[in-house]
Amino acid sequence: MLDGTEVIMDGRRPRLVLLCGLPGAGKTTVARSLERELSAVRLCPDEWLAELGLDLFDGEARDRIERRLWQHAQDLLASGVVVILENGFWQRPERDEKRLRARALGAEVELRYLDVPTAELERRIALRNQEPGSVVLTTELLRECLAQFEAPTRAELELFDPPLA
Ligand SMILES: Nc1ncnc2c1ncn2[C@@H]1O[C@H](COP(=O)(O)OP(=O)(O)O)[C@@H](O)[C@H]1O
Ligand SMILES: [Mg+2]
Repeated sequence: MLDGTEVIMDGRRPRLVLLCGLPGAGKTTVARSLERELSAVRLCPDEWLAELGLDLFDGEARDRIERRLWQHAQDLLASGVVVILENGFWQRPERDEKRLRARALGAEVELRYLDVPTAELERRIALRNQEPGSVVLTTELLRECLAQFEAPTRAELELFDPPLA
């Protein structure tokens, strides 16, 4: 149903959950736990890039994967599914686009902003960098991410639905 008609499956509305935060903020950790709690489908661009053998720092490949996953997310929402996207959503226009489109599909939409101080991000990334198979993220790169990050304001957060769990 792509015409905005309300979709209700098993007594619950489809819902889009956006995980917003910088690298190390805990998006994947939270998304994995929500996936179980909400019986949701979790879509993680980093995992798709890695599993397709693509470079996680290849911006064009990331854009293509994110566009395809967003298409897939919309199909799932139209079928009544709860979908978790863990792209990070650093920029307000990306969050606006997702919110408006999800609502147009008759889905609820929540924004989970993981606001973690820089020193703690650095600490967690340093630990994760030690894990076997992890993609190493340097402090310099984290600084670049911080410069691009547009944190959601309270007014923006209020545009979203309250969290389910
Ligand atoms: N609330 C938390 N407190 C402490 N460490 C955490 C917390 N959430 C996640 N971590 C750890 O921090 C690292 C980054 O978490 P992750 O979920 O991979 O973040 P992201 O997906 O946002 O990059 C992981 O090693 C994870 O185990
Ligand atoms: Mg992650």
